Amino acid sequence: MSGNKPGVSRDSVGVFAPATVANVASGFDVLGFALERPGDTVCLKKIRAKRVDVVAVEGDGGQLPRDPEKNTASVAAKRFLEAVGFPFGLEVTVRKQMPMSSGLGSSAASSVAAVYGANILAGSPFSVRQLLPFTMEAEQVACGAAHADNVAPSLLGGFVLIRSYDPLDVVQLPVPAGLAVATVHPHTEIKTEDARRILKKELRLSDAVRQWGNLAALVAALFQGDLGLLSRSLQDVVAEPRRGLLIPGFARVKQAALDGGALGCSISGSGPSVFSICASMEKAREVGSAMQKAFTDTGLDSDVYLSRINESGPVILGEER
Ligand code: HSE
Repeated sequence: MSGNKPGVSRDSVGVFAPATVANVASGFDVLGFALERPGDTVCLKKIRAKRVDVVAVEGDGGQLPRDPEKNTASVAAKRFLEAVGFPFGLEVTVRKQMPMSSGLGSSAASSVAAVYGANILAGSPFSVRQLLPFTMEAEQVACGAAHADNVAPSLLGGFVLIRSYDPLDVVQLPVPAGLAVATVHPHTEIKTEDARRILKKELRLSDAVRQWGNLAALVAALFQGDLGLLSRSLQDVVAEPRRGLLIPGFARVKQAALDGGALGCSISGSGPSVFSICASMEKAREVGSAMQKAFTDTGLDSDVYLSRINESGPVILGEER
Protein backbone atom coordinates (compact mmCIF):
# COMPACT_ATOMS: atom_id res chain seq x y z
CA MET A 1 0.00 0.00 0.00
CA SER A 2 1.73 3.21 -1.06
CA GLY A 3 0.12 6.59 -0.70
CA ASN A 4 2.22 8.52 -3.22
CA LYS A 5 1.12 9.01 -6.77
CA PRO A 6 4.13 8.33 -9.02
CA GLY A 7 6.12 11.46 -9.68
CA VAL A 8 4.12 13.59 -7.26
CA SER A 9 6.05 15.00 -4.35
CA ARG A 10 3.98 16.49 -1.59
CA ASP A 11 4.70 19.19 0.97
CA SER A 12 1.58 18.53 3.01
CA VAL A 13 -0.97 15.83 3.56
CA GLY A 14 -4.08 15.17 5.65
CA VAL A 15 -4.91 11.66 6.82
CA PHE A 16 -7.97 10.17 8.51
CA ALA A 17 -7.34 7.11 10.70
CA PRO A 18 -10.16 5.09 12.20
CA ALA A 19 -11.24 4.33 15.74
CA THR A 20 -10.81 0.73 16.88
CA VAL A 21 -12.27 -1.83 19.24
CA ALA A 22 -9.42 -3.51 21.11
CA ASN A 23 -9.53 -6.84 22.98
CA VAL A 24 -12.78 -7.97 21.25
CA ALA A 25 -13.79 -9.80 24.46
CA SER A 26 -11.38 -12.73 24.67
CA GLY A 27 -8.31 -11.14 23.04
CA PHE A 28 -6.92 -8.89 25.76
CA ASP A 29 -3.99 -6.96 24.24
CA VAL A 30 -3.83 -9.29 21.21
CA LEU A 31 -6.93 -8.65 19.09
CA GLY A 32 -8.69 -5.60 17.68
CA PHE A 33 -10.71 -4.40 14.72
CA ALA A 34 -11.19 -1.07 12.96
CA LEU A 35 -14.44 0.90 12.71
CA GLU A 36 -15.49 3.07 9.78
CA ARG A 37 -16.28 5.89 12.15
CA PRO A 38 -15.42 7.78 14.27
CA GLY A 39 -11.72 8.55 13.81
CA ASP A 40 -9.14 11.33 13.82
CA THR A 41 -7.61 13.55 11.18
CA VAL A 42 -4.00 14.68 11.26
CA CYS A 43 -2.59 17.27 8.84
CA LEU A 44 1.15 17.46 8.27
CA LYS A 45 3.25 20.14 6.61
CA LYS A 46 6.91 19.74 5.78
CA ILE A 47 9.35 22.27 7.25
CA ARG A 48 13.10 22.65 6.72
CA ALA A 49 14.02 22.52 10.40
CA LYS A 50 14.61 19.00 11.69
CA ARG A 51 11.99 19.07 14.37
CA VAL A 52 8.34 18.17 14.86
CA ASP A 53 6.03 20.89 16.15
CA VAL A 54 2.42 20.48 17.23
CA VAL A 55 0.98 23.69 15.79
CA ALA A 56 -2.67 23.04 16.64
CA VAL A 57 -4.93 20.52 18.31
CA GLU A 58 -8.61 21.01 17.60
CA GLY A 59 -11.61 19.39 19.21
CA ASP A 60 -9.88 18.20 22.37
CA GLY A 61 -11.14 20.89 24.74
CA GLY A 62 -7.52 21.75 25.54
CA GLN A 63 -6.89 18.35 27.11
CA LEU A 64 -4.21 16.90 24.85
CA PRO A 65 -0.53 17.76 25.26
CA ARG A 66 1.03 20.19 22.76
CA ASP A 67 4.49 19.06 23.83
CA PRO A 68 5.78 17.07 20.82
CA GLU A 69 7.29 14.46 23.15
CA LYS A 70 3.89 13.80 24.72
CA ASN A 71 1.36 14.10 21.90
CA THR A 72 0.87 10.69 20.24
CA ALA A 73 0.70 12.14 16.71
CA SER A 74 4.01 13.98 17.01
CA VAL A 75 5.72 11.18 18.93
CA ALA A 76 4.93 8.65 16.19
CA ALA A 77 5.89 11.06 13.39
CA LYS A 78 9.13 11.99 15.13
CA ARG A 79 10.20 8.39 15.75
CA PHE A 80 9.52 7.68 12.08
CA LEU A 81 11.55 10.70 10.93
CA GLU A 82 14.44 9.66 13.20
CA ALA A 83 14.37 6.21 11.59
CA VAL A 84 14.62 7.68 8.07
CA GLY A 85 17.33 10.21 8.95
CA PHE A 86 15.14 13.29 9.48
CA PRO A 87 15.05 14.44 5.81
CA PHE A 88 12.63 17.23 6.85
CA GLY A 89 10.67 18.42 9.87
CA LEU A 90 6.93 18.61 10.34
CA GLU A 91 4.20 20.90 11.56
CA VAL A 92 1.42 18.74 12.94
CA THR A 93 -2.23 19.69 13.28
CA VAL A 94 -4.47 17.19 15.09
CA ARG A 95 -8.23 17.34 14.55
CA LYS A 96 -9.85 15.18 17.21
CA GLN A 97 -13.08 13.86 15.80
CA MET A 98 -13.71 11.26 18.43
CA PRO A 99 -14.01 11.17 22.21
CA MET A 100 -10.87 10.75 24.30
CA SER A 101 -10.45 8.25 27.14
CA SER A 102 -13.40 6.44 25.56
CA GLY A 103 -11.96 3.00 24.82
CA LEU A 104 -12.17 3.66 21.08
CA GLY A 105 -8.46 4.03 20.46
CA SER A 106 -8.30 7.80 20.27
CA SER A 107 -4.55 8.07 20.92
CA ALA A 108 -3.97 5.29 18.38
CA ALA A 109 -6.00 6.99 15.63
CA SER A 110 -3.89 10.15 15.98
CA SER A 111 -0.55 8.37 15.91
CA VAL A 112 -1.58 6.15 12.99
CA ALA A 113 -2.78 9.12 10.92
CA ALA A 114 0.44 11.01 11.68
CA VAL A 115 2.90 8.26 10.83
CA TYR A 116 0.95 7.20 7.74
CA GLY A 117 1.08 10.81 6.50
CA ALA A 118 4.76 11.26 7.39
CA ASN A 119 5.64 8.12 5.42
CA ILE A 120 3.82 9.52 2.38
CA LEU A 121 5.64 12.85 2.64
CA ALA A 122 8.93 10.95 2.80
CA GLY A 123 8.10 9.06 -0.42
CA SER A 124 6.85 5.89 1.30
CA PRO A 125 10.21 4.34 2.28
CA PHE A 126 8.37 1.99 4.66
CA SER A 127 5.53 -0.40 4.01
CA VAL A 128 2.39 0.35 6.02
CA ARG A 129 3.04 -2.66 8.23
CA GLN A 130 6.56 -1.41 9.01
CA LEU A 131 5.05 1.74 10.52
CA LEU A 132 3.51 -0.20 13.40
CA PRO A 133 6.44 0.07 15.88
CA PHE A 134 6.35 3.90 15.71
CA THR A 135 2.69 3.94 16.67
CA MET A 136 3.37 1.50 19.52
CA GLU A 137 5.97 3.89 20.92
CA ALA A 138 3.26 6.54 20.94
CA GLU A 139 0.94 4.17 22.88
CA GLN A 140 3.70 3.71 25.45
CA VAL A 141 3.80 7.49 25.91
CA ALA A 142 -0.01 7.79 26.01
CA CYS A 143 -0.84 5.07 28.51
CA GLY A 144 2.37 3.49 29.76
CA ALA A 145 1.98 0.29 27.71
CA ALA A 146 3.05 -0.33 24.11
CA HIS A 147 -0.02 -2.43 23.35
CA ALA A 148 -0.76 -2.82 19.63
CA ASP A 149 -4.40 -3.91 19.59
CA ASN A 150 -5.63 -0.41 18.72
CA VAL A 151 -2.81 0.83 16.49
CA ALA A 152 -2.51 -2.37 14.42
CA PRO A 153 -6.16 -2.48 13.23
CA SER A 154 -6.29 1.31 12.79
CA LEU A 155 -3.19 1.07 10.55
CA LEU A 156 -3.98 -2.15 8.68
CA GLY A 157 -7.79 -2.25 8.78
CA GLY A 158 -10.00 -5.26 9.56
CA PHE A 159 -9.38 -7.68 12.42
CA VAL A 160 -5.75 -7.92 13.49
CA LEU A 161 -4.21 -10.45 15.88
CA ILE A 162 -0.92 -9.79 17.64
CA ARG A 163 0.61 -13.25 17.93
CA SER A 164 3.76 -11.93 19.59
CA TYR A 165 5.11 -8.60 20.79
CA ASP A 166 8.75 -9.64 20.87
CA PRO A 167 9.43 -10.20 18.08
CA LEU A 168 6.43 -8.31 16.73
CA ASP A 169 4.25 -10.69 14.70
CA VAL A 170 0.84 -9.47 13.55
CA VAL A 171 -1.73 -11.47 11.60
CA GLN A 172 -4.59 -10.00 9.57
CA LEU A 173 -7.77 -12.04 9.88
CA PRO A 174 -10.74 -12.33 7.52
CA VAL A 175 -13.93 -10.35 8.05
CA PRO A 176 -17.16 -12.35 7.60
CA ALA A 177 -19.58 -10.67 5.20
CA GLY A 178 -22.35 -8.54 6.64
CA LEU A 179 -20.97 -8.01 10.16
CA ALA A 180 -21.92 -4.70 11.74
CA VAL A 181 -20.99 -3.12 15.04
CA ALA A 182 -22.90 -0.91 17.46
CA THR A 183 -20.51 0.94 19.74
CA VAL A 184 -21.98 3.05 22.51
CA HIS A 185 -19.89 5.66 24.27
CA PRO A 186 -21.35 6.72 27.61
CA HIS A 187 -20.36 10.21 28.69
CA THR A 188 -17.82 9.30 31.29
CA GLU A 189 -14.07 8.83 31.00
CA ILE A 190 -11.80 5.97 31.95
CA LYS A 191 -8.07 6.35 31.48
CA THR A 192 -6.43 3.26 29.98
CA GLU A 193 -3.66 3.52 32.56
CA ASP A 194 -6.22 3.26 35.39
CA ALA A 195 -8.15 0.44 33.70
CA ARG A 196 -4.92 -1.53 33.36
CA ARG A 197 -3.90 -0.96 36.95
CA ILE A 198 -7.03 -2.64 38.32
CA LEU A 199 -6.46 -5.90 36.42
CA LYS A 200 -5.25 -8.96 38.30
CA LYS A 201 -1.60 -9.61 37.52
CA GLU A 202 -2.07 -13.37 37.71
CA LEU A 203 -4.76 -15.61 36.23
CA ARG A 204 -6.31 -18.79 37.53
CA LEU A 205 -5.46 -21.66 35.20
CA SER A 206 -9.19 -22.43 34.74
CA ASP A 207 -9.79 -18.82 33.56
CA ALA A 208 -6.81 -18.98 31.21
CA VAL A 209 -8.21 -22.19 29.70
CA ARG A 210 -11.59 -20.53 29.08
CA GLN A 211 -9.98 -17.41 27.62
CA TRP A 212 -7.68 -19.15 25.15
CA GLY A 213 -10.45 -21.55 24.13
CA ASN A 214 -12.67 -18.58 23.31
CA LEU A 215 -9.93 -16.66 21.52
CA ALA A 216 -8.92 -19.61 19.36
CA ALA A 217 -12.58 -20.27 18.52
CA LEU A 218 -13.14 -16.60 17.68
CA VAL A 219 -10.30 -16.72 15.15
CA ALA A 220 -11.69 -19.96 13.71
CA ALA A 221 -15.15 -18.35 13.48
CA LEU A 222 -13.72 -15.44 11.46
CA PHE A 223 -12.04 -17.84 9.02
CA GLN A 224 -15.12 -20.04 8.70
CA GLY A 225 -17.64 -17.18 8.69
CA ASP A 226 -19.42 -19.13 11.44
CA LEU A 227 -21.52 -16.54 13.28
CA GLY A 228 -22.82 -19.07 15.83
CA LEU A 229 -19.27 -19.90 16.86
CA LEU A 230 -18.36 -16.19 16.83
CA SER A 231 -21.27 -15.53 19.18
CA ARG A 232 -20.25 -18.29 21.61
CA SER A 233 -16.65 -17.05 21.55
CA LEU A 234 -17.28 -13.41 22.45
CA GLN A 235 -16.62 -13.92 26.16
CA ASP A 236 -14.03 -12.36 28.41
CA VAL A 237 -13.22 -13.80 31.83
CA VAL A 238 -9.99 -11.78 32.23
CA ALA A 239 -10.63 -8.03 31.93
CA GLU A 240 -14.41 -7.60 31.75
CA PRO A 241 -15.24 -8.88 35.26
CA ARG A 242 -13.07 -6.12 36.80
CA ARG A 243 -13.47 -3.34 34.27
CA GLY A 244 -17.23 -3.81 34.04
CA LEU A 245 -17.41 -2.46 37.58
CA LEU A 246 -15.97 0.88 36.38
CA ILE A 247 -18.79 1.39 33.86
CA PRO A 248 -22.11 2.46 35.40
CA GLY A 249 -24.88 0.17 34.16
CA PHE A 250 -22.54 -2.16 32.25
CA ALA A 251 -24.37 -5.39 33.17
CA ARG A 252 -27.71 -3.86 32.18
CA VAL A 253 -26.31 -2.55 28.87
CA LYS A 254 -24.80 -5.92 28.00
CA GLN A 255 -28.04 -7.72 28.82
CA ALA A 256 -29.98 -5.29 26.63
CA ALA A 257 -27.60 -5.98 23.75
CA LEU A 258 -27.86 -9.76 24.08
CA ASP A 259 -31.65 -9.63 24.54
CA GLY A 260 -31.79 -7.47 21.40
CA GLY A 261 -30.02 -10.15 19.34
CA ALA A 262 -26.35 -9.07 19.34
CA LEU A 263 -23.92 -11.88 18.57
CA GLY A 264 -21.85 -10.68 21.51
CA CYS A 265 -21.20 -7.64 23.65
CA SER A 266 -18.22 -6.53 25.72
CA ILE A 267 -16.12 -3.54 26.68
CA SER A 268 -14.35 -1.72 23.87
CA GLY A 269 -10.67 -1.58 24.80
CA SER A 270 -10.31 -0.28 28.32
CA GLY A 271 -13.81 1.26 28.28
CA PRO A 272 -16.12 2.95 29.01
CA SER A 273 -17.43 2.35 25.46
CA VAL A 274 -19.27 -0.93 24.99
CA PHE A 275 -19.48 -2.70 21.62
CA SER A 276 -21.84 -5.26 20.17
CA ILE A 277 -21.11 -7.30 17.07
CA CYS A 278 -24.25 -8.01 15.05
CA ALA A 279 -25.12 -10.04 11.97
CA SER A 280 -26.49 -7.05 10.03
CA MET A 281 -26.57 -3.27 10.10
CA GLU A 282 -30.31 -3.37 10.77
CA LYS A 283 -29.69 -5.48 13.87
CA ALA A 284 -26.82 -3.21 14.95
CA ARG A 285 -29.19 -0.22 14.79
CA GLU A 286 -31.73 -1.93 17.05
CA VAL A 287 -29.08 -3.17 19.46
CA GLY A 288 -27.39 0.25 19.60
CA SER A 289 -30.71 1.86 20.58
CA ALA A 290 -31.31 -0.77 23.26
CA MET A 291 -27.82 -0.25 24.69
CA GLN A 292 -28.26 3.52 24.67
CA LYS A 293 -31.60 3.21 26.45
CA ALA A 294 -29.98 1.05 29.12
CA PHE A 295 -27.30 3.71 29.68
CA THR A 296 -30.02 6.38 29.84
CA ASP A 297 -31.87 4.30 32.46
CA THR A 298 -28.63 4.33 34.47
CA GLY A 299 -28.48 8.12 34.20
CA LEU A 300 -25.76 8.38 31.54
CA ASP A 301 -26.02 10.17 28.20
CA SER A 302 -24.26 8.39 25.38
CA ASP A 303 -23.43 8.41 21.68
CA VAL A 304 -24.03 5.47 19.37
CA TYR A 305 -21.73 4.69 16.46
CA LEU A 306 -22.93 2.21 13.84
CA SER A 307 -20.28 0.84 11.57
CA ARG A 308 -19.17 -2.01 9.38
CA ILE A 309 -15.74 -3.44 10.07
CA ASN A 310 -13.36 -1.05 8.32
CA GLU A 311 -11.08 -3.12 6.12
CA SER A 312 -9.15 -0.17 4.64
CA GLY A 313 -7.43 1.57 7.57
CA PRO A 314 -6.22 5.16 7.06
CA VAL A 315 -7.25 7.28 4.09
CA ILE A 316 -5.63 10.35 2.58
CA LEU A 317 -7.99 13.32 2.68
CA GLY A 318 -9.19 14.12 -0.79
CA GLU A 319 -8.62 10.53 -1.91
CA GLU A 320 -11.49 8.90 0.01
CA ARG A 321 -13.20 6.09 -1.82
N1 HSE B 1 -5.67 -3.80 25.24
C1 HSE B 1 -5.71 -2.48 25.82
C2 HSE B 1 -6.36 -2.58 27.19
C3 HSE B 1 -6.54 -1.59 24.92
O1 HSE B 1 -7.39 -3.24 27.27
O2 HSE B 1 -5.83 -2.01 28.14
C4 HSE B 1 -6.70 -0.21 25.43
O3 HSE B 1 -7.55 0.51 24.54
